[in-house]
Amino acid sequence: MKGKILVTGGTGYIGSHTVVELQQTGYEVIIIDNLSNSNADVIDGIERITGIRPAFFQLDCNDREGLKRMFKENKGIDGIIHFAASKAVGESVKKPLLYYRNNIVSLINLLELMPQYGVKGIVFSSSCTVYGQPDILPVTENAPIKPALSPYGNTKQINEEIIHDTIYAGAPFKSIILRYFNPIGAHPSAEIGELPNGVPQNLVPFITQTAAGIRKELKVFGDDYNTPDGSCIRDYINVVDLAKAHVIAVERMNTNKSLSNIETFNLGTGKGVSVLELIKTFEKVNGVPLNYKIVDRREGDIEKVWADPDYANRVLGWQAKETLEDTLASAWKWQLRCCKGK
Ligand code: WQD
Repeated sequence: MKGKILVTGGTGYIGSHTVVELQQTGYEVIIIDNLSNSNADVIDGIERITGIRPAFFQLDCNDREGLKRMFKENKGIDGIIHFAASKAVGESVKKPLLYYRNNIVSLINLLELMPQYGVKGIVFSSSCTVYGQPDILPVTENAPIKPALSPYGNTKQINEEIIHDTIYAGAPFKSIILRYFNPIGAHPSAEIGELPNGVPQNLVPFITQTAAGIRKELKVFGDDYNTPDGSCIRDYINVVDLAKAHVIAVERMNTNKSLSNIETFNLGTGKGVSVLELIKTFEKVNGVPLNYKIVDRREGDIEKVWADPDYANRVLGWQAKETLEDTLASAWKWQLRCCKGK
């Protein structure tokens, strides 16, 4: 085995895809997840893909005593990938204290326990949300961090600062912060994918559920932005490409390749795609007409953002490879498989 990695939030969307890539690269994986926004059946899907069933503990990262027990019973954890967090932008505006407590206390618990159990590195799941509406596009890691537009986005900024300050104070571990753009799609096997609880907040699951007849119509939040077709632009990155970047980050920390104790990378394709372009691509690739209508803008949406992935390409040796077409085909294949008749 190449090492033992703890994946918090490992039954979630990006977490589960990362567990698959870690196992297929030769890592032993332990998942902890409180199942507040995912389902333990995901572990069966992971096992069907890799043939290896990861260890799983239903555990909340806010449960410090529970975490201590888990670390005591599972010695030799080399690194952590920390996905576990609440992540619905709109919900965070309505329930700020839930987001601040859940997303910040969970990280603090891990950072305090890592030195006691010899854990040498933590990969932190951050987001392009920290940039707000960038002044310059494409956006690099040096772009200014803008005041957060939501408590969710603020917890990402605060957590990045907590990691910086802890390592600056001499903590005996490294960290790599990964700022995702918009993860979409599903594993090509269709054994795992995005399975939001309730009404999807994000664009692509809402599209696939509309195409499947689960939702009546997709509402496009505004076509009066300063973009070529008036709809917002984002950098949609394939979730498997994203998962592979996490394996590279873990290897980089474990083999001490990184010169500094903390590094930050943008994970995007470098290509901006509008909402209307994505809809048209989905319809073309999957041969499925989509029922949608243009409505007012959604509060808090930024107009356009896409990554300059050059730093991650060069330093991590990582590149987003999957096309938007193949990614939207994988999302549709997953929708047909996961939610038949729901
Ligand atoms: C994309 C575009 C919407 C739904 C957020 C978080 C980010 C990450 C991903 C967690 C926007 C439009 C959407 C719909 C629509 N979160 N849209 N109709 O807001 O860019 O990013 O989710 O990891 O951190 O900030 O993603 O998919 O919600 O929206 O028109 O029903 O699709 O207006 O322009 P977003 P999204």
